[in-house]
Amino acid sequence: MKTARLTCLRVLLATSPAKGKKSMSLDAALANYLPKLEESRDRALTQRLAYATLRWLGATEYFSGKLLKKPLKNKDRDIYLLIQLGLVQLWREEIPAHAAVHETAAVARGLGKPWAVSLINGVLRNFQRQREILEAGLAQSPARWSSPDWLIQRLQAAWPKHWQAILSANNQQAPMWLRVNLIKHSREDYLKQLQAEGIAATAGGWTKAAIRLEQACPVNRLPGFSEGAVSVQDSAAQLAAEILNPQAGDRVLDACAAPGSKTCHLLELEPKISEVTALDSSATRLERVSENLQRLNLDAKILTGDATKPADWWDGQTYDRILLDAPCSSLGVIRRHPDINWRRQPADIDTVQQIQFEILSSCWKLLKPGGKLLYVTCSVLPTENQAVIERWLATVDNARTLPLSTDWGLSAGTGRQIIPGEDEHGNDGDGFFYCLLEKNNQ
Ligand SMILES: C[S@@+](CC[C@H](N)C(=O)[O-])C[C@H]1O[C@@H](n2cnc3c(N)ncnc32)[C@H](O)[C@@H]1O
Repeated sequence: MKTARLTCLRVLLATSPAKGKKSMSLDAALANYLPKLEESRDRALTQRLAYATLRWLGATEYFSGKLLKKPLKNKDRDIYLLIQLGLVQLWREEIPAHAAVHETAAVARGLGKPWAVSLINGVLRNFQRQREILEAGLAQSPARWSSPDWLIQRLQAAWPKHWQAILSANNQQAPMWLRVNLIKHSREDYLKQLQAEGIAATAGGWTKAAIRLEQACPVNRLPGFSEGAVSVQDSAAQLAAEILNPQAGDRVLDACAAPGSKTCHLLELEPKISEVTALDSSATRLERVSENLQRLNLDAKILTGDATKPADWWDGQTYDRILLDAPCSSLGVIRRHPDINWRRQPADIDTVQQIQFEILSSCWKLLKPGGKLLYVTCSVLPTENQAVIERWLATVDNARTLPLSTDWGLSAGTGRQIIPGEDEHGNDGDGFFYCLLEKNNQ
């Protein structure tokens, strides 16, 4: 029989396998394993426990390090993760302790490892007994951030005043934000529709279309969702289209477009854009762009292609506006994807900043004189943000950065940075970097 906890273990093994094995994203692992559970209640529990375990893995590893007499072998990674799953239920989830201990330990028997049942039971019972001492120890340890040491160090160096706020926001559940389709109705009208459905929500964020839900809810409960009334999009991500500010008649390139949230927002914001080209190197991810455009009744030219190789796909006509939402480490969206904390490695940052530089260099050549390019990442590391822009600016003589509103984010060299979590106005966005560039009229 497939139980929620066994399925959760499979998800954890896929996202956080033994050393040397390739990991899967949490989204992909959930998409793979959740359909194997018949009951929606089990699917919900599996998902909730997988998120919680990955979110708090650094802290529960601290506890298990104190409670296990000797480390488990690599081949017993399943048992190790079961212990983390048990600990997170006792420490963070409102699950009756008896069920948490008994049902988690029982999974080991189903795995053909009956010897581990008493081990898991023992570790979890000892956690209950020693909880206060263990928590006091955790409070003094860097493990309290539940983040890898290299990331803590990089954030400390980059954001001496804000690194603690970033790390603590990374472990909070992010709010669900909506972007009202202003072609169809005003934000106030849509708020009334939500209210009529009993969905508590408020206007907020930094853009005129943003609505924050008090509690996350499935999209099929949102009035008019399938007819394009509204989209799900983080409030900081909604700034992209407004900053780029496309005008009627513009030719726009969305150079890294999939799954298309920002492509659609550009079209909602200015329906008289002459043409939007939605480019992405992943044909599979572009299918999501088509779905989103169709649902919102919008139109764009979809192209599979590599932004660093325009010779393969470009029609030779320059663009008035380019959105470059670059591939990045995604370290600004850990609160939505806690697996990123553990799957990302320092070497990935070096690789990705080189790709970002190359995409920026190629796209710049496709921009009209007087045109604007918005460089965006969902990273909080300057290496992928202002450092890329500064390095690139030194290689061109026809670019200047434009000032951005100081109503949001922090000053970050050539651009502005939103750090994840709630700001002093109650806006609660993901970690995004924005830099707006203009090409000189020659
Ligand atoms: C941050 S995501 C874009 C998110 C999208 N703009 C949105 O708002 O829905 C980055 C995208 O860049 C794409 N990508 C990566 N390398 C690329 C390249 N060389 N050329 C074009 N697209 C690329 C990835 O497939 C991914 O879909």
